[in-house]
Amino acid sequence: MTPTKVLIDTDPGVDDAMAVLYAAFDPAIELVGLTSIFGNVTTEIATRNALALVEMTGLDIPVAAGATRPLVQEAREVAWEVHGREGFGDVPAFTPKRKPAKEPAHEFICKMADLHEGELVLCPVGPLTNLALALEHDSSLASKVKSVTVMGGSLDEGGNVTPHAEANIWQDPHAAEKVFSANWKVSMIGLDVTHRIICSPADFAALASASPKFGGFLDDAAQFYFDFHRKVDGIDGCHMHDPTAVISIVSPQFVSFDETPVGVILDGEETGKTIRYQGEGRMNTRVATGIDANAVRERFLDIMKSAPDSQQSNSNEV
Ligand code: RIB
Ligand code: CA
Repeated sequence: MTPTKVLIDTDPGVDDAMAVLYAAFDPAIELVGLTSIFGNVTTEIATRNALALVEMTGLDIPVAAGATRPLVQEAREVAWEVHGREGFGDVPAFTPKRKPAKEPAHEFICKMADLHEGELVLCPVGPLTNLALALEHDSSLASKVKSVTVMGGSLDEGGNVTPHAEANIWQDPHAAEKVFSANWKVSMIGLDVTHRIICSPADFAALASASPKFGGFLDDAAQFYFDFHRKVDGIDGCHMHDPTAVISIVSPQFVSFDETPVGVILDGEETGKTIRYQGEGRMNTRVATGIDANAVRERFLDIMKSAPDSQQSNSNEV
């Protein structure tokens, strides 16, 4: 089976790290590169963390630095209280050896879409600013991309930053509106389903013993993330938002979708809310409304437990 070519746009972030490492080790995925964006952390820290993740895996793929502010609204506070000041919980900041690509994220996205025309799946798991800028940079981008799988939004689940808005949309609603209104195939993996996939501290402890290098890192990074979930959601575990989006690309059988055009509220108290768009002329988005939560959780743990810990990375820090 030919692996699916995937580019992850990410604001690493603890669950982003889970998603990127999963993508690196699932043989059904060919990770072609990462682009960084603000959200959980600043774009500078997101870029550094994305470089560190790539270095950790030993993959020789580019990381391109993304936008440093939203398209229109003022920059919002980054979610350091969820992911820690440096983005990986209490894990100290990495100093990656590698440097970012020479081109900015939106140009890199267009370059990868040209290189892999018709084959590339874009998987944004942070705010959608880079994708919106890429659509502006190349007006034919939507026709070159195989599909887009967005971790973000919600239809009936409400928000996790405000009662209405999910974090990735809330950070840049104007960019999200551009992404959901472009003429490309979009799947939205939102809180309607990601709130149902929870991994426990015991899951990550088991992962750490099976895969000391990668599982050990994720277990360390997840401790801060567990504390946030205990305090805010009252759960003994963590939501697997970003890994669920990546897994849905190569295991769509785990997910059921409704088809509806999606719009984004851009002002007032409901800013950042994703809605069933009622206007004309907008393509349907596949919105995930059902999921086999345990299948997703098991898939994540199985792939990560089989991660080649002996894989030599370009750096020794982990
Ligand atoms: O709302 C959850 C999303 O916001 C996830 O992508 C998480 O990493 C944060 O970016
Ligand atoms: Ca994220």
